[in-house]
Amino acid sequence: MAFREYKMGGMFFGFALGFSMLITIFFPTIYITNHGAPNDYGLDKTMTYGHNNGFTYSDPFLKQWHKPIKAVLSKDPVTGQAFAKPMTVYVYRAGDPFPSTITHPRVLAGEGVIALSKSKGKIEAADDSKGAVFTLANGAYKGKELSYIVDLTATRNWTPTQVLAAVPVAQQSHASQGRTLYMREGCWWCHTLLPEETQDWETFGRPPLVGDLNGQSPTTFGSDRKAPDLLHVGSRNSSREWITMHLFNPRLVQPHSIMPRFDYLWGDKDANGKTINYTKWRKDYLEYAAGKTIYPPEVPTPAKSSEASHLIEYLLDLK
Ligand code: HEC
Repeated sequence: MAFREYKMGGMFFGFALGFSMLITIFFPTIYITNHGAPNDYGLDKTMTYGHNNGFTYSDPFLKQWHKPIKAVLSKDPVTGQAFAKPMTVYVYRAGDPFPSTITHPRVLAGEGVIALSKSKGKIEAADDSKGAVFTLANGAYKGKELSYIVDLTATRNWTPTQVLAAVPVAQQSHASQGRTLYMREGCWWCHTLLPEETQDWETFGRPPLVGDLNGQSPTTFGSDRKAPDLLHVGSRNSSREWITMHLFNPRLVQPHSIMPRFDYLWGDKDANGKTINYTKWRKDYLEYAAGKTIYPPEVPTPAKSSEASHLIEYLLDLK
């Protein structure tokens, strides 16, 4: 029988096909993040960015809907008593979807982090239709010091509204919206968020660890670096003034910069409610660039609710 001649080949083929299917189907079900329990840094990032941090079904046009607010609370929102140490809180108003670290505690990885977040942090009591306020805390699990998430709405009865009322608007950060803008504006065409394990370390800070990324999707690592890595830009370059000027028009601070200007993110009005006159600004700037005037025109302070402001908050939060 002619077929017999192909028996060995057929068997090998069957084995190769079966094995590759096993790799394709079975391997992705192994939960790799189990090997990297999130650290403070990773927990802070997922709580800051919230659930919708990319192109999603619930925000297909990157309008930054339903994003949490990160704030530093310096007094008890109910009694008004000042804290000895300010507390960083992540405020999810009613309807803001929780990140997967809350909805699927397994994403937290690491037995201890899950156990502490559930038992001491009461994260399972959080209900996104009512909103909740979270913070991070440290605790011991089987003799090991670990960070975990605390649902302050369950443990202290603080509501998002009460907490937001206790923090001045100027000190509420919309880094979560800024992250979406980073994607929408294509900053990743030039910038990476991935210092590598080479001499990169010295300039851009430490490379990310597995635990830094739990619950974050997409990671916005970027693939092609034409500009400095920004993963830790907020630690390296924490001047709000510089970042603001550079974002408005990079040529103001780096005469030969290839970075586009993002002045349109300022919107119509500046922080004082004054209409921004882009035509006049441009005219003054071109005179300055041509050497006709000594000083460049002043960059308007972005309004707190402007996209520019949210993007700057995101950059400064990249510690
Ligand atoms: C065409 C490439 C390009 C794009 C797109 C781009 N940048 Fe840049 N960016 C640069 C370059 C080049 C530099 C280095 C400084 C310079 O030349 O202005 C830089 C520098 C920076 C810095 C300062 C980095 C440091 O080390 O201090 C920040 C912050 C920054 N960019 C943010 C952004 C943001 C936010 C976006 C998106 C809204 C963006 N960039 C889009 C090219 C780009």
